[in-house]
Amino acid sequence: LNNGVARTPPMGWNSWNTFGCNINETLIRQMADAIVNSGMRDLGYKYVVVDDCWMNSTRDAQGNLQASPSRFPSGMKALGDYLHSRGLLFGIYQAPLDRTCAQYFGAYPGATGAQGHEVQDARQFAAWGVDYLKYDWCSPSGTIDEQVARFAVMRDALAATGRPILYSINPNSIHAKTGPLRNWGDVANIWRTTEDITNAWNTGQTNGYPMGIQNIVDVNVPLAHYAGPGAFNDPDMMEVGRGGMTDTEMRSHFALWAIMAAPLVAGNDIRSMDAATQTILKAQNLIAINQDPLGLQAAQVSNDGTRRVLAKRLGNGDVAVALFNQGSTSTTVTTTAAAIGKSGTSFTLRDAWTNATSTTSGSISASVPAHGTVVYRVSGGGTTPPPTTAFRLRSESSGR
Ligand code: DGJ
Repeated sequence: LNNGVARTPPMGWNSWNTFGCNINETLIRQMADAIVNSGMRDLGYKYVVVDDCWMNSTRDAQGNLQASPSRFPSGMKALGDYLHSRGLLFGIYQAPLDRTCAQYFGAYPGATGAQGHEVQDARQFAAWGVDYLKYDWCSPSGTIDEQVARFAVMRDALAATGRPILYSINPNSIHAKTGPLRNWGDVANIWRTTEDITNAWNTGQTNGYPMGIQNIVDVNVPLAHYAGPGAFNDPDMMEVGRGGMTDTEMRSHFALWAIMAAPLVAGNDIRSMDAATQTILKAQNLIAINQDPLGLQAAQVSNDGTRRVLAKRLGNGDVAVALFNQGSTSTTVTTTAAAIGKSGTSFTLRDAWTNATSTTSGSISASVPAHGTVVYRVSGGGTTPPPTTAFRLRSESSGR
């Protein structure tokens, strides 16, 4: 969406994965402080997104949304002001139909969705200083055309406020896999491509709830050609630091999200992160690959079911390559400079995790533990004509 925001994937934190409906203004302020104090804000984690369950169960007499008086007694404007005072940006949640997802499931009272109130809600969000709206379809029904129409109403309402507001949509809640059916870049800045993530490597779900890391990667990788500045596939918020996976799997999760140009939205409790979690979320080389100005999502170079290679062209002519071992035992994953769009005879490989460098005349390989991902930044030589669609910039492609 060409609204001036999300020229690179958004980074931040969202309340849902850890806290669900158990949110309040003290918690959000503490999290904001922790994002600043941990150094994460200065690495780019700017958006603090208050997910579902912030609302009062009814609108006021004029039809305006209201904050829950018990959870957010100071109101949402005050919360936005606080986040802005800490150098952060303010994200909020709403749903396009008559109720939010938690309301749909009966986990939260009321029916305060935006349907019929889109312009009013957008103006309210702008008046509160909102910088990011997560807009969550929560219904088993609705054709793609109906979804496009509803999501476009809020797109236009946000634009009409004159405030730059990042527009994040989820077409998939209990409506599995409608994300992948369409390039949503004309409607939103980021769009969820799968059902909800969970803190597991593989749930066996490819089209339902909940999805593990491997399952989401399987759906999200083939959508690479949709991504570009202002428009990114969203494989859901991160589960780094939430248990349920090994350290190798957590690193792999972060590395794959980074190279897939996914929004890097942490979902853990930032106040109590352990050292391993911090190391992952603050991995600067991977953040730089994610935030590269070309805004490309890694293209698939090869996948034999066990060994999967992804490559992301970068603005300075380098190419980032992920050597991903999907198998359950250690193996060597191999590709070549030519296969990832490099020409020449001499290249430098910088390991994104260790910073170690090595040189090669063309072969790129690593021994990778089970479920692990080695990422190299490959420099030197030239860049050959883009080998696959997803390597191309919009200006080099047609039909995007
Ligand atoms: C479904 C979404 O996928 C989640 O990320 C979260 O926003 C919940 N709805 C909130 O009810």
